[in-house]
Amino acid sequence: IYEWYQQMLQSHTVMFDPARASWLVFGYEEVQHVLFDQGTFSSQRSVNADGNVDPFLGMGILGIDPPRHRHLRTLISQGFTPRMVAQLEPRITAIVQALLDQVASRGEMDLVDELAFPLPIQVIAELLGVPSSDRELFRTWSAEAVSPDLAHRVAALQKIAHYFRELITQRRQASREDLVSALLQAEVDGGHLSEEELLGTCMLLLIAGHETTVGLICNALVCLDEHPESLQELLAHPELLPSAIEEVLRYRGVVHSLARVALVDTVLAGQQIKAGDLVLPLFAAANLDERQFPHAEIFDIRRSPNRHLGFGHGIHFCLGAPLARLEARIALGMLLERFPTIRRRRSMPLELKPSYFIYGLKHVPLEW
Ligand code: HEM
Repeated sequence: IYEWYQQMLQSHTVMFDPARASWLVFGYEEVQHVLFDQGTFSSQRSVNADGNVDPFLGMGILGIDPPRHRHLRTLISQGFTPRMVAQLEPRITAIVQALLDQVASRGEMDLVDELAFPLPIQVIAELLGVPSSDRELFRTWSAEAVSPDLAHRVAALQKIAHYFRELITQRRQASREDLVSALLQAEVDGGHLSEEELLGTCMLLLIAGHETTVGLICNALVCLDEHPESLQELLAHPELLPSAIEEVLRYRGVVHSLARVALVDTVLAGQQIKAGDLVLPLFAAANLDERQFPHAEIFDIRRSPNRHLGFGHGIHFCLGAPLARLEARIALGMLLERFPTIRRRRSMPLELKPSYFIYGLKHVPLEW
């Protein structure tokens, strides 16, 4: 798909795709424009790229426009603060340590099953205050919630909603030191999150925070494996890890697109877009645009500046970016420190997970 993005960028920045009945936006400037101009390109969509009504896309603040979006984002930011995330560092370190202990003597592991998948689900479940006995359920549900099969997605979301409704009722009765309690208490100008908004937020944090982080950790390892000189540089200079993670977010983006709907007739890069048209800003394509990133095809862990759109841009910029960066930094840092000879087992071909908007691998077998 990345080669295709590069090819398309040579000839188009915006193109109509009859198969998806939507506008594909490849260019960096054009994607930024779509994300920035909410008056023209609304996030209040309930359909996805295959034209189906999608419950996930309408969920929580991801599918809400201003002015309600600003109010909601302020409320959520009160509960889910960068300070709260920074305090998680020792806990995340302990989880990674325990996961790596389990595989250390074996000399091989599957990165997805044994580190990248269990880590974020455990972190977000602990944050939200989900008891450890229920975490297995969450693993299954959150994977189903981004499946390409709509019926699976709907069923998974119903199960997650039912679970959170009960958890919210419990926290209303007895508050705890967790994110659900903090969100219940959040207040702006005397207003609180409604029951449905709170539910949508819990579900969004769970799902948006899970498969995406799995993808980032795996894509990072694959990029480093494919660029051994970068891996050696990183091993010699571990302080480059944060900048290497940003380059992975640019070079092998995890979230490829989240649709917008045109509210009015408009022109983008000379193309006539009609009110009601579906518009797909392709973050991962924009990140390969030469006009923004010189030598965009080169994976450069020292790239600076690196204003990638891997976490989006504008008012919907990813709320979980500090958490995702922290988890990736700790997981990759400890992995490389403990197993510096790590490499991918090339005998096993890489296979993509079936998902309609996330670029993630099913398995990444490693050995050291
Ligand atoms: C929004 C990517 C991790 C929570 C977004 C958007 C992107 C994104 C591209 C913008 C969507 C749009 O413009 O329509 C990613 C990536 C991640 C990641 C690549 C990991 C590598 C997380 C985590 C959480 C999270 C860990 C929380 C636990 C959210 C929320 C929004 C969002 C709540 C909606 C913000 C709003 O609408 O104002 N994310 N995300 N994300 N993300 Fe993330």
